[in-house]
Amino acid sequence: MTPDENHANQAIQSQKARQFDLLTQCAPGFPMGTLLRRFWQPVAQSAKLEKGRSLPLRLLGEELTLYRGESGSAYLVAGRCAHRRESLHNGWVQGEQIRCMYHGWRYDGSGLCNEIPAEKQARNEPVRIAAYPVHEYCGLVFAWMGELNADGTAPEFDLPRKHALDEPGRSYVILEQVWDVNWFQQIENSMDAVHLSFAHGWGKVGRFAEAITSVIPDLVYSETAAGIRQIATRSPTNVRISDWTFPNNNHIVAPGPGKDDPWTDISVWAVPIDERNTRRFTLYAYAAHVKPEDLDTVFQPRIHAEWMSQEQRIPATDEAGEITAQDYVATSGQGTIVDRTKENLSVSDAGIVFLRKVFWRELDAIVNGRPTKQWSRLDEAPELPIPEIQATAG
Ligand code: FES
Ligand SMILES: [Fe+2]
Repeated sequence: MTPDENHANQAIQSQKARQFDLLTQCAPGFPMGTLLRRFWQPVAQSAKLEKGRSLPLRLLGEELTLYRGESGSAYLVAGRCAHRRESLHNGWVQGEQIRCMYHGWRYDGSGLCNEIPAEKQARNEPVRIAAYPVHEYCGLVFAWMGELNADGTAPEFDLPRKHALDEPGRSYVILEQVWDVNWFQQIENSMDAVHLSFAHGWGKVGRFAEAITSVIPDLVYSETAAGIRQIATRSPTNVRISDWTFPNNNHIVAPGPGKDDPWTDISVWAVPIDERNTRRFTLYAYAAHVKPEDLDTVFQPRIHAEWMSQEQRIPATDEAGEITAQDYVATSGQGTIVDRTKENLSVSDAGIVFLRKVFWRELDAIVNGRPTKQWSRLDEAPELPIPEIQATAG
């Protein structure tokens, strides 16, 4: 390679790297940060937030404090006090307000500082910290961190497949994990149907394995009102359909825990904590009579990943834990933030290519001040092209 060619090659590589950075960076001010804030995001489990207590959170690169007032309402405000940056989580919840432990500044749930005990005179300008609307649903606290309506309210709470979760009599179980992997690798994993035959093709994955064979699937991807539908056909009676919903949720329908149980709706969110860590919430909406499992103990990423990657040992957990552990091993094994400039994509990576194009289109609209797509609910069930379908999770 001549010096000129080498220089041109480096320029192309660095332009590619910038394109890929757009996908992974989600702190305030980055295009992806703006995009992700235009959707309701799950931030914590309701059960972990007691009345009169607070939790420190990091979300989309921002430090936050989530607290529950004495009335039972939850509030999400900035992580630090406006005075001298004390962590508000160290303070006290009083009524519906939170007081900083350092010098006692007190904030309400809208972020307004309404008491400064050591100051005799009121300030001319009110002091405010960030505050975001929250909504509790199915045992999760969701937050709206994007722009508000003109009247200061958040857009109506909605989820792309909410009707499936809403069905009467459902019981809900939540699995929460932190993965030390950039969030976008996990989104790409959802759009990668081939990995099922390998990453999930060993171990004791039970009912899941019954429908997964080493056959490489035929793949079809299409954009829906809510995201991307992928259809992976391994045989005429083995077709896996999943509705990935924009920008960071995957809705899966999978066999229930017992042999004769009806299928379960599973909704998975990969919510960036920052560029290197992701909080994953998996919401299992079981049919009425199914006894939900206790999923809290199923999977500890570091322990199980070590077993699986170094000793080829399977975690002594249930099937759901094993599948998740395999996904963790696969995505963390790429590196915390995979270097996409060094990839060699092929035809079977059509889903990854499709996914990135959709994101780049939306990010381009944000960068250039154009409207993004109006993603909406996906009310219809996936139409399966053949009878006796075997659809599975992954
Ligand atoms: S740092 Fe919070 S009151 Fe001083
Ligand atoms: Fe998987």
